[in-house]
Amino acid sequence: MKRAFFVKTSALLAIIFIAICATSCAYLSSHTHLSSYRGGPKPAVDLKVGEGFVNPLGYYESRPRFSWRMPDETVSKFQSAYQIQVTSSDSDFSEKHALWDSQKVSSSETSWVKYEGKALRSRQEIIWRVRYWNELDEPSNWSSINHVEVGLLDNNDWQALWIGHANTAHEKTAEHNPSTQKVIATPQYFRKTFNVSGKIKKARLYITAKGIFKPSINGHAFTDDVMTPGWTPYAKRIETLTYDVEDYLVAGENTLGIILAGGWYSGRVYHFLDRDHRLPPRVLAQLEITYDNDETFILKTDDTWQATQNGPIRFASNYDGEKYDQHLEMPGWDKPLYTASGWSQAIEEPVDKNVKLRPKRHTPVKTKLVIPAVNIIKTQTNAVIFDMGQNMVGVPNIRIPVIQGQEVQLRFAEALHKGAFYTDNYRSAASSDYYLPSKTGTINYQPTFTFHGYRYIEISGHDTRALPALEWVEGLVQYSDFALYSNFHSSHDKLNQLSKNIAWGLRGNFLDIPTDCPQRDERLGWTGDAQVFAAPSMYMADVYGFWSAWLESVREEQAENGMVPLYVPHISWLDFASSGWGDAATVIPWELYRLTGDIAILEDNYEMMQKWVSFHKSKSKAYISSMWSFADWLQPYPITKKRANWGDTNVNLISTAYFARSVALTLNTARVLHKPDDVMKLEKLHDSIRSVFRDHFFDEVLKVKDGVTTQTSYLLPLAFGLFNDADKQKALQYLKALIFEANTHLRTGFLGTPLLSRVLPESGNTDLMYELLFKETYPSWFHSINNDATTTWERWDSYSIRDGFNPQGMNSLNHYAYGTIARWFYEGILGIQASEAGFKRLRIAPQFGSQLSEAKGSYRTPEGEVSVDWKIIDDMLWMTVVIPKNTRADIVLDQARPETIRVNQQSKENAHLPIMLVPGTYQIEAEIILNAK
Ligand code: BGC
Repeated sequence: MKRAFFVKTSALLAIIFIAICATSCAYLSSHTHLSSYRGGPKPAVDLKVGEGFVNPLGYYESRPRFSWRMPDETVSKFQSAYQIQVTSSDSDFSEKHALWDSQKVSSSETSWVKYEGKALRSRQEIIWRVRYWNELDEPSNWSSINHVEVGLLDNNDWQALWIGHANTAHEKTAEHNPSTQKVIATPQYFRKTFNVSGKIKKARLYITAKGIFKPSINGHAFTDDVMTPGWTPYAKRIETLTYDVEDYLVAGENTLGIILAGGWYSGRVYHFLDRDHRLPPRVLAQLEITYDNDETFILKTDDTWQATQNGPIRFASNYDGEKYDQHLEMPGWDKPLYTASGWSQAIEEPVDKNVKLRPKRHTPVKTKLVIPAVNIIKTQTNAVIFDMGQNMVGVPNIRIPVIQGQEVQLRFAEALHKGAFYTDNYRSAASSDYYLPSKTGTINYQPTFTFHGYRYIEISGHDTRALPALEWVEGLVQYSDFALYSNFHSSHDKLNQLSKNIAWGLRGNFLDIPTDCPQRDERLGWTGDAQVFAAPSMYMADVYGFWSAWLESVREEQAENGMVPLYVPHISWLDFASSGWGDAATVIPWELYRLTGDIAILEDNYEMMQKWVSFHKSKSKAYISSMWSFADWLQPYPITKKRANWGDTNVNLISTAYFARSVALTLNTARVLHKPDDVMKLEKLHDSIRSVFRDHFFDEVLKVKDGVTTQTSYLLPLAFGLFNDADKQKALQYLKALIFEANTHLRTGFLGTPLLSRVLPESGNTDLMYELLFKETYPSWFHSINNDATTTWERWDSYSIRDGFNPQGMNSLNHYAYGTIARWFYEGILGIQASEAGFKRLRIAPQFGSQLSEAKGSYRTPEGEVSVDWKIIDDMLWMTVVIPKNTRADIVLDQARPETIRVNQQSKENAHLPIMLVPGTYQIEAEIILNAK
């Protein structure tokens, strides 16, 4: 009965839906044939769970969100309804096994549909499928079936105990002096032999560490994950991994082996050597085998395990590198027949109730690329330098000749300083690996428990009788396991190089958490850098899960009073907040929502956003904020010499502008989440800030009252909508004057730079933005490219070919902050913009400049890929756009002569209206007037 009602209602809605489409979509009638499609619509594809997981194992949510999309090949253009079915038994969707049936739901939603059956339990496996109805209310066939297997959701699921080597017992290592630190920094090896007796139906290893682990079974390293479990606020939550290990188990005796090192858990943060390896690492593992007869065997870590610290990895540290001694290799240690003489009994510790153990909620780090060395540079000494041709992050794999007992040393550098190997910019991070060979011959080695940021590797201590060859070294590029798209190309080589450099900055700084830099004694989740780079990175890679997971850590690290620390996860040091940094709490959830349309990201973070707004409030008086700030960090040519890194822009102006910004984004969120009371309060607060902002910081003629008038002092209010229209025009004039005074150069740091490409094109100054982007001289993006950059740098002038490293110190050559310009590649040059969250409605509004004759690229919206490919030949634009299914697009060509615009060879009926398109591929032509305002 209920079902029949659903079907009838949805049929009616479908008719209304078609009617709306037919009247509102200018090109619908000529490009869509509203007759029945032969064979019906093709089944949904790209079935995903949560933030984009495909058939996840060890999943983290008890109520997964389901997403799919209409296939490109189908003739249908829109979804009018869907049905999801979830069952507990392989491909049997009958009532007997049904867990949830959404029934037919009239909706165009294809993403983030929440499972509404009974909450899933730890270890539970579900199977799901989906079908949809098109705009003619014709159903597709069911999709292929997909799986989800839940991980261990609760601490009570763990029978295992944390284990460690007895040398690292707390009472023995309590003093934190160099000798105990040495003990803690020495990796621990664990082994346990057990019996498999029966036919295995399912075998799962659940595992995590306070530290980082590498497991193996019967000598097989069954996973290529590295640096697991990754970095979360360990005192609050530690992520756990789930592995299917059935294929590695044999009937009879088996051995599970685990190597454990300190990683982020016990390694130091920043240069504080006394904090280095203070906390003893521990590992927790539970192997669960279910036999065919449904009997279960559980092997758990406890004090019956054997442990040693006499294995070949003698030392491991994220910052400092690894030491390996071949003499101490233990062949077969993770196989049953090994005689573990000299091993001792592990010590055990209970699972602490207060530290949540939760399934890892984004993909682990892996070796994602292997790159060859491209050049060999001989030095005066016996060392040899290999150039990887690319500043990268990960570890090398070396295959080199060695001499027994002669230690090999690997050092790393990001660039050569006037021809010499240079490591000063790593500061206290030793970033060196050592290998002591037990025999003369060739060794093959790659470090296990560290990572380096480098382009050059210096090898010394090898057998110098052999002639170095490029094959000696390859670079294993490691980052969290997500897809990085190569989705922006243009007619300009330097712009393409810049785009590549930004992608390398992304690779290098997405190693489990978003970091400022990957090489020196820092590598921290600085919130300001993340705040500006989150949205650009979403265009370049499949990183929604990555950001969403990190935001959980931000929520956990937020203080009771709403303070968001400077970096997350936080280790006590600099325990205060900065405007523009803590605002990551509001900016990132909102940007993620804008690009995905997933309301869950707002629901999950709304409380944090509100608390951050309260914190802002607590730092303000009469709506003017005096929150401390890193300000427009690393602005070039600072006049204020005393705190030059902070730039010249008035700090309170920055803090108040960000106060308003965070209120505005929290207000947007309250609207989406239907919180009318909050909306009212936030609107009022925003109006109040706006009403005092202008007169407090600017005089009658709109010059900055207190301090230096900078580009950023105008960019902030312009970008955040804090000026009225008249002031806006004046501010733009001043901004442009400041840019021209600087000989058409930017003078912006971390906070101002991302706003240039928003403010200038939006105000009709696209040509000026192009000029800044294509500027060859300092400070500019191309200046770095002219100086051999293969990544984005921390400072606009971090390095030059002639003078080497900037002597100012703090010079990372792999900082993603200035890579924020990538956002404009997609939203501006290609013009792909979300008019509605999640791209259900989108705009294609490409911005043209005389510097570029071609650009092409794409973005993977939740509905499918939107792509733009344009060329300008003799002022004529030739553009192909692909609009994904289930979306509608407005084409906006501000720089075209309206009467010349033709879509699929037809002229527009009303030249001044935007062109509205339904899904499909279109050829668009127009005459372009460059430099048009
Ligand atoms: C980091 C930055 C960070 C900053 C705070 C630096 O040391 O590398 O990128 O945002 O500190 O200003």
